Amino acid sequence: MRKADYGNIANTYDLSRPISEERLETWMNLISERIDSDRKIELLDLGCGTGRFSIPIANRLGYIVTGADNSEEMVLKARKKDEANLVEWDIQDATSLSYPDASFDAVFMSHLLHHVDNPSDIIEECYRVLRPGGTILNRYGSMENIREDPEHRFFPETIEIDEARTPTQEQVENIFRIAGFQMVSSKVLAEQPYPSPEVRLRGAELKFTSVLTLISQSAFENGLENFRKYILEKPNDHWLLEDKMTLTSGKKV
Ligand SMILES: C[S@@+](CC[C@H](N)C(=O)[O-])C[C@H]1O[C@@H](n2cnc3c(N)ncnc32)[C@H](O)[C@@H]1O
Repeated sequence: MRKADYGNIANTYDLSRPISEERLETWMNLISERIDSDRKIELLDLGCGTGRFSIPIANRLGYIVTGADNSEEMVLKARKKDEANLVEWDIQDATSLSYPDASFDAVFMSHLLHHVDNPSDIIEECYRVLRPGGTILNRYGSMENIREDPEHRFFPETIEIDEARTPTQEQVENIFRIAGFQMVSSKVLAEQPYPSPEVRLRGAELKFTSVLTLISQSAFENGLENFRKYILEKPNDHWLLEDKMTLTSGKKV
């Protein structure tokens, strides 16, 4: 599988992925509701990127957070944002972690699994590094929910690439169960991450979703042209503002 180059993406990642206070609050609640423990939680944010989730999990939920990613450039951005030094930052390959067995109470990941050839390698590692009673949480756009979004409709070359790398919700749940997780369940959220169609278009121009870095230049330019035309014709189409995000969780019993 051709891999997205996060060494480059690191420069624009945060510019093109706005996360409002309201959405952040929703995600913090969803995460904390699924981690029921009286002890001080040690959480691993795997594929943490620029720390979009690691930093709020540490400062809002009070967890002891390790943010791990295999891109030095993404982790550098995260470190810079973490002015209070709340998070332990680490360079790690999610398919082969250096942490001992039973090191964490929770593993969270957001938009990670489609970046590796065999997602079960990651989920097996999560099972290994979790303590008994630990929780796994995966936040992602499932294939069935991203296929019709603007980034796939306007840039159709993305569909074949994502069909080959992006699991469906059912596939994620199966991978969890096969790795040994129990009480596997999923919740789908309809979100409105973009305040206007222009902000989403700007994100596409910056190749905010990694699949746009993998298509041909001509497909990218055609897609942008069609995206711009559509906004001019239907500026109030709500579809331009929405995304569906899934959270699949499970327990190591
Ligand atoms: C789409 S970004 C998500 C970043 C962050 N979780 C978020 O939601 O903002 C995917 C991240 O996964 C990281 N990544 C890709 N393959 C990885 C691997 N094998 N091990 C660790 N991190 C990986 C990339 O470097 C990138 O930072």
